[in-house]
Amino acid sequence: MVDSKTITKAKMLQSPMELKETISNLSAEIKATTIKTAEDLETFRIKFLGSKNCLKDLYKELKNVPNENKKEVGQLINGLKGEAESKFEESKKYVASKNQTFSSGIDLTRPAEQLELGSRHPLAVIRNEIIEIFSRIGFSVSEGPEIEDDWHNFSALNFPPEHPARDMQDTFFIEKGANEMALRTHTSSVQVRVMENEKPPIRTISPGRVYRNEAISARAHCFFHQVEGLYIDKNVSFADLKQTLLYFAQEMFGGDAKIRLRPSYFPFTEPSAEVDVSCTICKSEGCNVCKYTGWLEILGCGMVDPNVLKSAKIDHNVYSGYAFGMGVERIAQLKYRVGDLRLYSENDVRFLNQFKSAF
Ligand code: PHE
Repeated sequence: MVDSKTITKAKMLQSPMELKETISNLSAEIKATTIKTAEDLETFRIKFLGSKNCLKDLYKELKNVPNENKKEVGQLINGLKGEAESKFEESKKYVASKNQTFSSGIDLTRPAEQLELGSRHPLAVIRNEIIEIFSRIGFSVSEGPEIEDDWHNFSALNFPPEHPARDMQDTFFIEKGANEMALRTHTSSVQVRVMENEKPPIRTISPGRVYRNEAISARAHCFFHQVEGLYIDKNVSFADLKQTLLYFAQEMFGGDAKIRLRPSYFPFTEPSAEVDVSCTICKSEGCNVCKYTGWLEILGCGMVDPNVLKSAKIDHNVYSGYAFGMGVERIAQLKYRVGDLRLYSENDVRFLNQFKSAF
């Protein structure tokens, strides 16, 4: 703003000395004026360049200046005029550029638009929930490589040499022969690594992606996700396993959930069982998800086979243990009722956006 009090009025009949002082005061005033808005600019223009501007008085005074000083004083007044003009032009550009920002549609005073937040993948949500449930009862989390050798994926887990999982039809082999490497078919391979590197008591779960050579359909995929658990200590019994799984089922599916165990077979556990949870969808009344049985299969489990403990150099006369393994997609299917496995890996945001409220 131009402060009117600071304007030095050019009085009539000033001596050349007085005139020079007036000019230098006005010059200082021009320099000190800050012009930010269109109004400031207009005030400045009227004062220094308008039809009744203060420089006009100075030119009038010039007539009375003695000839020997005329040239000098005249040049000073012209200089002052130049200063006022260039200050005006400069400020005009500045004010115009500020206005342009607004007229180009950008209103800097508007509140910012909300950033679109992504959401967690439903499988990550379920995986985290499983980890959370087991970590509450003392399980740690272990991870291992997705490309595995035969020993960790098969041999150390008591798979006989002719077991069908070792077949090309079931497993993706990367190299056959002496340096046989494959994409792991389960995360039991991670548990072998833990048993080799740690001493009991061991209480750990291994979440991760696994691969099987299957044709892709609604019910099968060439990769899926597992969380497998392992507990090794003195005197671990089948009752411990059953109680742990009941705790898990009730934490995951609600306090009313029941489990049942059916005898099964895995090379690395003996005895082995498959675990069903009471159908959470129809409350065991019978529906098409549980195929009118009232039960849903959720995992495989069993007591760690002594041969597996031997392979990991754990004394099977002192220690015993249980193991279990579940598919994350299967649990997600039951919680979210998403039947088609392909949806989990298609990255369709219309599908993924439905899980925004999940943690
Ligand atoms: N590894 C088994 C599978 O991939 C699951 C399992 C783990 C079964 C531990 C029993 C004990 O199907």
